[in-house]
Amino acid sequence: MFQIAIDGHSSCGKSTLARALARELGYIYIDSGAMYRAVTLFFLENRVDLYDQQQIMDNLHKLEVSFVLAEAGNRTLLNGRDVEDRIREMDVAAKVSPVATIPEVRRKMVKRQRELAQNQGVVMDGRDIGSVVFPKAALKIFLTATVDRRVERRQRQLLEQGHVIDYEDILHNLYERDYIDSTRSDSPLMKAPDAIVIDNSNLSPEEQLAICALLARHRLFHV
Ligand code: DC
Repeated sequence: MFQIAIDGHSSCGKSTLARALARELGYIYIDSGAMYRAVTLFFLENRVDLYDQQQIMDNLHKLEVSFVLAEAGNRTLLNGRDVEDRIREMDVAAKVSPVATIPEVRRKMVKRQRELAQNQGVVMDGRDIGSVVFPKAALKIFLTATVDRRVERRQRQLLEQGHVIDYEDILHNLYERDYIDSTRSDSPLMKAPDAIVIDNSNLSPEEQLAICALLARHRLFHV
């Protein structure tokens, strides 16, 4: 089965593109960031000390992340509970990057991500999809955009959810996450050598989809 990997910094529009591309190709869409967010929520709710290896190990096997896949939008489940909206809130966003640095967490998530893609074509977005999860993906895209555009997008997204957050606060959060994601020792955010870089600062969602659909068809069907 074919895999398409879409990696890049946060708030570059990866999930919008990945979801649209999956729909176009009749593939499933998996948001791997949602999985790290669900683990973070579990740790927050159970007051797990992120610096205590034993507590991490004791708790990791108690959680299971899955998805209800739907055209109208996937829902992330944590031990069967729908946490899709909850994992987008600021307290989870503030802690997810440190959680994603923990090797045991990454190992469990990568295993789960490969399981989810076992019997079907998948478009997956994240940070290490092309480099670690699916090194043999049929197509690897690395999305990037100017910081201004990323903050704007994030601000709009939060506003749609009813949160009014300062430009400076969002900028700080983006820089902090970029730094942690890119400098962690276990599978840091990086462009796979064979990934195609797309700077979407001045591209509409439709233009990005058109470019990626063309690339995907070329890779998958040689047309
Ligand atoms: O894509 P996102 O913003 O929802 O991701 C949340 C966090 O999870 C982000 O800090 C990076 C991390 N992440 C990761 O380390 N590896 C992935 N494959 C996906 C996300």
